[in-house]
Amino acid sequence: MPFLSAALDRVKPSATIAVTDKARELKAAGRNVIGLGAGEPDFDTPANIKLAAMHAIEGGKTKYTAVDGIPELKEAIIAKFQRENGLTYKPNQVIVGTGGKQVLYNALMATINPGDEVIIPAPYWVSYPEMVALAGGESVPVVCTAEHGFKLQPEALEKAITPKTKWIILNSPSNPTGAAYTRAELKAITDVLVKHPQVWVMTDDMYEHLVYDDFTFYSPAQLEPQLYERTLTVNGVSKAYCMTGWRIGFAGGPEPLIKAMAMIQSQSTSNPTAVAQWAAVEALDGPKDFIPKHNKIFKERRDLCVSMLNQANGIRCPKPEGAFYVYPSCSGTMGKVAPTGKKLATDEDFVTELLEAEGVAVVQGTPFGQGPAFRISYATATTAVEEACARIQRFCGNLK
Ligand SMILES: Cc1ncc(COP(=O)(O)O)c(C=O)c1O
Repeated sequence: MPFLSAALDRVKPSATIAVTDKARELKAAGRNVIGLGAGEPDFDTPANIKLAAMHAIEGGKTKYTAVDGIPELKEAIIAKFQRENGLTYKPNQVIVGTGGKQVLYNALMATINPGDEVIIPAPYWVSYPEMVALAGGESVPVVCTAEHGFKLQPEALEKAITPKTKWIILNSPSNPTGAAYTRAELKAITDVLVKHPQVWVMTDDMYEHLVYDDFTFYSPAQLEPQLYERTLTVNGVSKAYCMTGWRIGFAGGPEPLIKAMAMIQSQSTSNPTAVAQWAAVEALDGPKDFIPKHNKIFKERRDLCVSMLNQANGIRCPKPEGAFYVYPSCSGTMGKVAPTGKKLATDEDFVTELLEAEGVAVVQGTPFGQGPAFRISYATATTAVEEACARIQRFCGNLK
C-alpha cells in the first residue's frame, strides 16, 4: 500500500508471535494444543514485587517520571551492576526503558547510519536484524554451528569485522539456543574485539540468571575492562523476575550514548510506566530466593526435553547452558512425509505439520538464522513439556 512507509519493506513480523497466534486460534477452535512458542516464564510475578506496585498506586506514584527512569530505580540498577557484574556506572550512565526491547531499539536508532554493519551471531533473537534494518543498518549474521555449541568462534568474528562494523550484538544465554559463553569462550571473543576500536559491544544479558549446572555468567565489560568505554550492557527484569508484562528493561553504558538513547525515548514513549518502575526497584533490591527455585525446575525441564527429543527419529537436540529454550535440529526429518501427505522440505513445514498432527506449537528455526531446526520454550508446566515431547516423538515416528 503506497500510503505505508518504505521502512516496512525492510522488516518482517515476528515469527514467534505468529506461531503463538496460530496456536491460540486452534485452541479457541477446541483443539488440545500445547504451546511451546512463547518466551516467558510460566511462574507468576513474586508477591513482594506485586505488593510494591500496589503501594506505588496507593501512594499516588502514578504520574510522569524522568524519561530515563526514577532515581530510585537507577540506584537499584547501579547496585545490581556492581553486585552482580562488577560494573560501575553513575546515574547518567543508566537508562530505563519499556522492556529490554525498547532499550536495544533506542541504542540502534541512536547510533546507526546508512551502511553501518552490525555483527549478529546466528542463531539470533529474531528482533535483532529487524531492528537493525529499521534503523537503516546492515546486519551481518555469522553462523555458529551446533558443533561449536552455537557459539561464535574468534576466527569467524575476526573475518566478519570490517571498517564499517559499528556493533556486535552478543546474547548469552541465548534466545533461541540457550547457549551461554564460559569465561574462556567469552575472553576469546573480547580479545578479538579489543583489537578493533571501531566496534562497540551491545550485550543482551536478559537471561543472565537463568543458567544451570553451576555455570557462571560473565558480561563482556566485566571480563574485559578495556571494552567498558564501548559496551552497552543491556538487562531487564522480564525473565528472571517473571515480569514480562511489566515492561521494564535497562542498560548501562557510556554517558553520551545513554543521553542519545534517552533523547530518542523522550520523543517517542517518554518514561516507562511509573508503577512498573517501582515494582522493578523491589525486584532488584528485594529477595531473590525464588530464582534458584525456578532454575531447579527449568533445569529439570531442559534435561527432560534434551533426553526425550534425542529419542525422536530425525531430531538432534544439543544440551544448552541456560535460558529456557532448546534448539533441536530437524534435518533428519527433511524429505519425509507427514500424515497429511505433505513432504517436509523446510523447518516451517515441520512445525506446521507438527501443530496440525499433534497440536504442539514450536517455532521454526529459519527466522532465527539457522535451520532446519526449531525452538522449544520449556517455560511451561513440566507435565505439558513431557507430553509435548512425547507427541513430537510420535510425530517423528509416524513420518514416512
Ligand atoms: C534475547 C532477548 N532480548 C530481549 C528480550 C526483550 O525483553 P523485554 O520483554 O524486557 O522487552 C527478549 C524477550 O524475549 C529476549 O529473548
